[in-house]
Amino acid sequence: MIEYIDTMDEFQIREDNPLNNNTTVISQEDLRRQEEISQYIKEFWQNQGVTPVAFVDTYGCQQNEADSERIRGILERCGYGLTDTAEGADLVVINTCAIREHAEQRVFGNVGALVHTKRRHPGQKIFVCGCMMGQSAVVEKMRKSYTHVDGIFSPHHLWELPEQLYRVLIRHRKSVFVDDSAGNIAEGLPVVRMNKLKAWVSVMYGCNNFCSYCIVPYVRGRERSRRPEDVLQECRELIAAGYKDITLLGQNVNSYGKDLGLGVDFADLLASIAELEGDFVLRFMTSHPKDASHKLFDTMAKYDKIAKQFHLPFQSGNDRILKAMNRHYDAAQYLALIDYGRALMPDLVFTSDVIVGFPGETAEEFEDTLRLVERVGFDALFTFIFSPRGGTPAAAMEDPTPRAEKNERFDRLVALQNRISEQKHRAYVGKTLRVLIDGVEDELLTARTDGGRLVRIRGDKALLGQFARVEITDATTWSLVGRVAEH
Ligand code: SAH
Ligand code: SF4
Ligand code: F3S
Repeated sequence: MIEYIDTMDEFQIREDNPLNNNTTVISQEDLRRQEEISQYIKEFWQNQGVTPVAFVDTYGCQQNEADSERIRGILERCGYGLTDTAEGADLVVINTCAIREHAEQRVFGNVGALVHTKRRHPGQKIFVCGCMMGQSAVVEKMRKSYTHVDGIFSPHHLWELPEQLYRVLIRHRKSVFVDDSAGNIAEGLPVVRMNKLKAWVSVMYGCNNFCSYCIVPYVRGRERSRRPEDVLQECRELIAAGYKDITLLGQNVNSYGKDLGLGVDFADLLASIAELEGDFVLRFMTSHPKDASHKLFDTMAKYDKIAKQFHLPFQSGNDRILKAMNRHYDAAQYLALIDYGRALMPDLVFTSDVIVGFPGETAEEFEDTLRLVERVGFDALFTFIFSPRGGTPAAAMEDPTPRAEKNERFDRLVALQNRISEQKHRAYVGKTLRVLIDGVEDELLTARTDGGRLVRIRGDKALLGQFARVEITDATTWSLVGRVAEH
């Protein structure tokens, strides 16, 4: 029988097990302890003759999706089944995103609405986690105004979810596990993957860049890379289990390895995975232009298994704004990277992120963004209007441009990109491309090209999960239409 001592009122100070100066690797002993608590929770439910169900709701980026898969893994280990609605769930976990105000407002609204589901199912426990909980002001607001919430934890405390559940379920306490440490790495957490073909693999966590508008470094801590052998092992297991599409994740994925001091950079990691036996496509995101080395492009060109897709956010086409954003490159350097990549790989697909209406952006400076978009010709662009984030330098900058004008700029940019996307997609018509057939939607098969473009195909459902060569017969702004050429 395991003994549980209630010493959890204060945060425990853990002995560091340093991989480098910044990184705490959670010890096997600590992980085992969480596993034991999971077992205890499972027995707690079994003793009541109940199979509890949990609903995990995810906001934000792929990093959060990947974290939610670990949360589901931990919950399954604690005896929970999974459901896709908060209604009637014994446990609701809301994994939040803090990137823009709109994202936060949605979370506040949806967490607020859980008052009603809890009223209808009084045993329901509610946890809120993720990037919003990395901000002390948000945590305070949750604690004070959302009293139906039972547990709060920031991304650094995901691995301790069993302990937090124990506190809430068995000790009938509230649980708040938050701090502003630099972050940690917890290897070997259980995982329930949501897709049978495509898998996320986080290779590094956190960000050191402090772009002046961005909250991520504050809520996700410093950059810390997993050991190459741990990443390789996870990839080997995925390939053996039949996964066909692996995406390496990091906020700034191409600075992988800098903190390890092992002489292994992101291009080396990518190459070593691409060398693994098996039929799979390898992707990665998100890359920062300042760390996009020629070696990385050369590595992409060398291996067929590495998708010819590069998500390379440029944020603005104007050098003064780029400087104010603390991005460490200018428009000419960005364009030189695009040109280098295309010279090596003519079919390389570029996609990007851009912010409209950064504080002080003038009408002329915005024109530079339009010019860059026109010059590059991205296949797709993710466009955002600047949203001030408390505590970031940009939130304190003068921002005289009226919202209506920002909206107008945004609309012009979207219209330009839609025209380009459509042109780009039209240019695929008549080509034959390799795709992975990954789904069925409205009687049509869906597939992704190596470049990440969506293709809808009339075809046999038996092709699901296979690579096939597809002739593109038609195109829209958003997707392609094709027929199977051979497989
Ligand atoms: N680490 C990645 C992604 C960061 S978040 C990167 O550096 O590219 C995804 C996108 O959200 C960013 O690329 C940026 O375009 C946008 N973004 C981040 N903070 C923002 C803010 N405060 N307002 C508007 N858009 C923002
Ligand atoms: Fe944010 Fe910049 Fe880091 Fe991306 S690189 S997560 S935009 S600080
Ligand atoms: Fe949002 Fe956190 Fe991702 S702030 S964009 S979920 S890293």
